[in-house]
Amino acid sequence: MIGTRADFPSHFRSRKKQARSVAGHACSSCLPDSDRPLSVQPTRAACTRKLQRIAARESLPYFPAMTNFDEIVDRRGTGSLKWDKYRDRDVLPLWVADMDFRAPPEVTAALRSRADHGVFGYTVPYPEVTDAVLDYLLTRHRVEARAEWIVWLPGLVQGINLCCRAAGNSGDAVMTSTPVYPPFLSSPGFSDRRLITVPLRLDGNVWNFDFDAMEKSVTAETKLLILCSPHNPVGRVWRRDELERVLEFCERHDLLLCSDEIHCDLILDDVPFVPTLSLGTRAAKRTITLLSPSKTYNLPGLSCAYAVIPDAQLRARFKHVCRGIVTEVNAFGFTGCVAAYRHGEPWRRDLIAYLRASRDLVYKFFAAHLPQLKIAPMEATYLAWFDARPLGVENPHKLFEDHGVGLSNGNDFGAPGFLRLNFGCRRVMLLEGLERMKRVCESVCR
Ligand SMILES: Cc1ncc(COP(=O)(O)O)c(C=O)c1O
Repeated sequence: MIGTRADFPSHFRSRKKQARSVAGHACSSCLPDSDRPLSVQPTRAACTRKLQRIAARESLPYFPAMTNFDEIVDRRGTGSLKWDKYRDRDVLPLWVADMDFRAPPEVTAALRSRADHGVFGYTVPYPEVTDAVLDYLLTRHRVEARAEWIVWLPGLVQGINLCCRAAGNSGDAVMTSTPVYPPFLSSPGFSDRRLITVPLRLDGNVWNFDFDAMEKSVTAETKLLILCSPHNPVGRVWRRDELERVLEFCERHDLLLCSDEIHCDLILDDVPFVPTLSLGTRAAKRTITLLSPSKTYNLPGLSCAYAVIPDAQLRARFKHVCRGIVTEVNAFGFTGCVAAYRHGEPWRRDLIAYLRASRDLVYKFFAAHLPQLKIAPMEATYLAWFDARPLGVENPHKLFEDHGVGLSNGNDFGAPGFLRLNFGCRRVMLLEGLERMKRVCESVCR
């Protein structure tokens, strides 16, 4: 039952179905954009009803997946950024944020079927892919978005850069909290904006926003706040009250809010993910949410992402800066996106269970064998962030790399002395990496 209707591009499907799909959105969006209330969070009952309708419409089967994430997949020779970095060296690649796991089989089947069609002309977002996104936002995150809010992008990094260009003018400023995903730090400069960084605060074992420092650092020229939610690299899932405060800060200083939520389906603890758009009309007016199935389903090489922009004026500004630069998503990106959102849930649940166990292993190993390295609890992502400064070495990144462990360097995240370990790999390899780190630490601390 998998790899059926939803996997085919629109031209394979009946016109009736397409018309129904488009009409479904048209009826909820018959008012002109500017006249419509920006209510983005439906009631739970409405969600349940819609979910039942979607399940009936798509005849979605539910098979528990039981995926084998311990399977050996040789990624060498596949043009992998992660693996090619250490192509000729005995260094375990535990750095850039992609996982070593095969994508859900339903995704692979859909891609194969798309490849079999054999024609790879220019693309447009077709109704099924928009439907898949809208249904995903509603059923997973209780955000009732409309088709016209979606702006397709080849990647979130482009989205971050476009947000910088859409906010203010040359010479204005962009604020973000460090440590953070490196393109948050480089994008403002690419658009001739000044970067203002405010370090997150480590209170005991918990990373928090430093709202006082944010107030002190914001200037009249600041036009944009880039938020990472959940946060890469510290793995925090921001709570509703924290996001309310961020929103209130943006309102008071009239900032555009770019909410990068690419890690939102990788929550490892029993904490709710709060989409910024679920904060309601106030958030919808100033927020550009960036999303993609790529992190969760391990599809970054398919280059498929999207921005959700409820406010018509803001969306027009964003589209304006896209002109002549942003290409369409490629045919495989759309196909992968539909298949992942429609059929990937059993696989995702297996993934979360596997990652949670790996994360717990990292905690235990650090506590038992790497007590010099300070690690705070991670609620989300497959990225472990830790402080290597207690080792007292000048370049901990190089030290570990020289001893066979390729980690991400905290310098790139605005936090020298810290390191990031990607545990989205086979557990055997993770253990080998941890063992190597243990030997390094023992030799340094002898
Ligand atoms: C927070 C965050 N945003 C964006 C990206 C990359 O997005 P893309 O590959 O779609 O450009 C990553 C990748 O690790 C990320 O962690």
